[in-house]
Amino acid sequence: MEIAPKINPPLRTLLGPGPSPVNPRVLQNLSLPVIGHLDPAFLKIMDESMAMLRELFQTKNRLALPMSGTGTAGMETCFVNLLEPGDPVLIGVNGVFGTRMVDVAQRCGAQVDTVEAEWGTALDPAQFRVAFGKKSFKVVAVVHAETSTGVLQPLDEIARLVHEHDGLLLVDTVTSLGGAPVKVDELGIDACYSCTQKCLGCPPGLSPVTFSERAIEAVRKRKTKVQSWYLDLSMIEKYWGSERVYHHTAPISMNYALHEALRVVLEEGLEASWRRHRQVHEVLIREMRKLEIEPAVTESIRAPMINAIRIPEGADDAKVRQRLYDDFNIEIGAGLGPLKGKIWRVGLMGHGARVENVELLANALKRLM
Ligand SMILES: Cc1ncc(COP(=O)(O)O)c(C=O)c1O
Repeated sequence: MEIAPKINPPLRTLLGPGPSPVNPRVLQNLSLPVIGHLDPAFLKIMDESMAMLRELFQTKNRLALPMSGTGTAGMETCFVNLLEPGDPVLIGVNGVFGTRMVDVAQRCGAQVDTVEAEWGTALDPAQFRVAFGKKSFKVVAVVHAETSTGVLQPLDEIARLVHEHDGLLLVDTVTSLGGAPVKVDELGIDACYSCTQKCLGCPPGLSPVTFSERAIEAVRKRKTKVQSWYLDLSMIEKYWGSERVYHHTAPISMNYALHEALRVVLEEGLEASWRRHRQVHEVLIREMRKLEIEPAVTESIRAPMINAIRIPEGADDAKVRQRLYDDFNIEIGAGLGPLKGKIWRVGLMGHGARVENVELLANALKRLM
């Protein structure tokens, strides 16, 4: 067999739905010496990351840790730990990731009901009220920033309803964490997961998760074992907590990367980071309008870090995206499902949320069209 040549990935400007551009400080951490997952020096890094994650999630929850795996591992962690076969769950579906939640919950053997909205619009709290009028739900799950549509779901009203009915609120903050307010304690979110490769400016590979005491209590009261050995929080907690019991070998280098990514966000300040994402998003909307490209989502529910814009009439979707790669080394995202061929998705996330990236994209599109 001929050995393949050494890889040489192109240097892209990642303005798609993720992964986003990695902060150079984070990349440097990836080349630090690997040590053992029970080395006291690593345990200190773990403790520091947990403390910083609590800050990011705006929570005092004891359980806030990065699961090994991408955002979907965080999604599965929340569902497999909270749901037992037969448990009733209500899921908001208005894009790819709500749809994925339904699939994951069904695989847990849960009884799944849904509240649906057209892709590109927000879920309506009134529909959650109607669903609660018919039965009670152990868990209610929604996606905060629907990456497939560019909608930022308002959470206050849904959170209030869920608590009124004594349910557990599960929220996907894969795309929003670090780029928009995710106030876990203030909203009373019981289970929340995210990822490293969007607004944290880190490569994909870990999934920060936090559980409230109510959620932990629900896990404790299970009658059946969590169906996934790997994602069982009662065991993972014993490694991340004071007992330090081996569960699986933590991805050391990715944990170094996350540690630096969290430091970067907190050095900037959470509020400043949210503000930067909002400001850069506004610059994008202005620049796109100059090219007669309109946003696809109503202003009040636009997710600043993932921008759905309408493909202008006459533009060849696939060709434009290919030429952005070939001629400008820029990645943007295509539309998915019913939005395929109708929208482009422009990610301005974490280290990538900068005005110079908007200018780069606007100039490239101007040349192509
Ligand atoms: C909102 C949302 N949830 C879940 C996921 C799944 O994350 P991953 O692809 O890292 O497994 C994604 C990925 O883009 C996402 O955008």
